[in-house]
This record gives sequence, structure tokens and C-alpha cells, in this order.
Amino acid sequence: MPYYQRHIFFCLNERKNGEDACAKHQAQEGFDRCKSKVKEAGLAGVGKVRVNKAGCLDRCAGGPVAVVYPEETWYTFVDHDDIDEIVESHLKNGRPVERLLLPPDVGR
Ligand code: FES
Repeated sequence: MPYYQRHIFFCLNERKNGEDACAKHQAQEGFDRCKSKVKEAGLAGVGKVRVNKAGCLDRCAGGPVAVVYPEETWYTFVDHDDIDEIVESHLKNGRPVERLLLPPDVGR
């Protein structure tokens, strides 16, 4: 059994020169919301779900972005409803949220 059943990484990158990055698109709010919803749902911890900060994931054009492993499912999100749906559908029930998938050709 894996140490964590699922792991979600949020890009919180910010660029000092003021260039666009996920931090400019409410990435921190998304991360905070995810962390609290995972905890509230009793999903946090060993054998369950881990929510982590990440630096640039090199898919900035779709920012803010997050990726869930082991499925390697990439998401782009806008608001709390999006995060709540990722937590409930994917992190809790293993069903990726189709409407929030990051298109495969989105890069830096
Ligand atoms: S700044 Fe977020 S993926 Fe690059």
C-alpha cells in the first residue's frame, strides 16, 4: 500500500520580476481551500491524501494548476467550487473532474 493514496501538488510560484505566474491567479487560496476541505472530510494523513505546495510545474499558461498523483491528473481551477469538486470527486471518490482537466498541450 502506498504511503499516501493520493497526493495533490499546487503550483504557488511567484515571479519577482512581476511576470505572470500561478500566484497571481489565486493559487494560494486554492491550496488553502483544498487543505481545509481535505482535513474537514477526514481525508488527510497517512494512507489517505496529502496536499502539498509546489514551485513552478512548467504549465504556467494554464495557471493556476494542480496535479494529482498517482493518476497524474492535471487541473486548472478558478474558485472554491472547483476545489471542492476536486476534493469530493477525485481525492475522495477517485473520479477525475473532467470539466477542470488541463488540456494536454498547455505548457509554459
Ligand atoms: S507558474 Fe505555475 S506552473 Fe509555472
